[in-house]
Amino acid sequence: MINQDDFPITRDCAYLNAANVSLMPAPAAKVMTDWQTDVALNGSNNFNDLAEDTAFDGLRVQGARLFNCHENDIAGGSSCTELLSSIAWAVMPKAHENIVSTDIVFPSTIYPWTRVSHHTGCEIRLAKGQNGYAHIDELIKCIDHNTAVISLSHVEYTGGQLYDIQKLADVAHEHNALLVVDATQSAGAIPIDGPKSGADVIISGSYKWLCGPFGAAVMYLAPHLQNTLEPGFVGFRSHSDMWTLSPERLDYPETAKRFESSTMAFGCIKGLEHSMKYLLDLGIDNIQNHNMKLADQLIDGLNSLDINIISPINRAERTSIVTCQVDGHDPADIVEKLKQRNIIAHKRQNYIRFAPHVYNNPSHIDQAIQSLASILK
Ligand SMILES: Cc1ncc(COP(=O)(O)O)c(C=O)c1O
Repeated sequence: MINQDDFPITRDCAYLNAANVSLMPAPAAKVMTDWQTDVALNGSNNFNDLAEDTAFDGLRVQGARLFNCHENDIAGGSSCTELLSSIAWAVMPKAHENIVSTDIVFPSTIYPWTRVSHHTGCEIRLAKGQNGYAHIDELIKCIDHNTAVISLSHVEYTGGQLYDIQKLADVAHEHNALLVVDATQSAGAIPIDGPKSGADVIISGSYKWLCGPFGAAVMYLAPHLQNTLEPGFVGFRSHSDMWTLSPERLDYPETAKRFESSTMAFGCIKGLEHSMKYLLDLGIDNIQNHNMKLADQLIDGLNSLDINIISPINRAERTSIVTCQVDGHDPADIVEKLKQRNIIAHKRQNYIRFAPHVYNNPSHIDQAIQSLASILK
């Protein structure tokens, strides 16, 4: 599906770890490092005021393709946590309100709300999950007329469970609540239509399924919030005309751009922009099909070894994150032994997590299964 020269390590390494840190296409990595080197060697000679003002414009173009939305609906930032924190302070649920998530969610998806709850006294409600899985009905049961926000991960990081965000957006809106989606474990691997999904906010970090670098993130903000939410984090870029530089006023842009507050490692945004373009040119649908075939192969192989798979296996809730447990074996030990054989998986909780992506091929999965067989012999 890809030119292997763009991911050279995949020639001799079965890198199955996109849910932790993905590989970046070499041309996108070059854009990022070239930008950094240019600024280091030439200062503002090339990266002038105009370039600084327009630094996110390319990301907006790719973000609009990623979430099938308007460029005005896209903002960039340094991390998923940073953008989500700014949203949490902007929404700032009140003392009698609650925020709903799951008790298996990645901490960064809920901590920004937890911090706000320390300030306002709002309640955090976490639906009960088990073995990296939380039933969507348990989540829905937590929602009531005091729910201000459902904040959840589109795909749970441990077992790869996929939620139906359209269904959750409907429930959220019936209760006048917002649906805030952390798409860090889905964007780039699963098609997401922002407007059609009904989600109010969708945020993704860069360095997992979007194959970008650390230090960048992308956000979709539904149009109805673009002139109502006052960002939690503000700086000179927050003003609608940043170079007028008057401390006496703060008029936000009437677009998602109002959430872009400060200078940052702009090369990372450019790296993310080019990684996204790379994936979008391949087609996220095609990537999803490719990844799911690899996941099927992985599941068959694990089953043939009688290894206990904890990821959901029904079509609606599955992704290419395949997580398993080998009875009587320390997962860290197995992950280490796989690494010695050039197979890169990851230990999460007490499990072994495989996460094949666009740059993997069936022989990587064969290598992983054969290596597991020899380790367990
Ligand atoms: C669902 C999810 N959200 C967020 C993060 C990390 O966010 P950040 O890069 O802002 O630390 C992770 C990392 O594993 C994740 O799995």
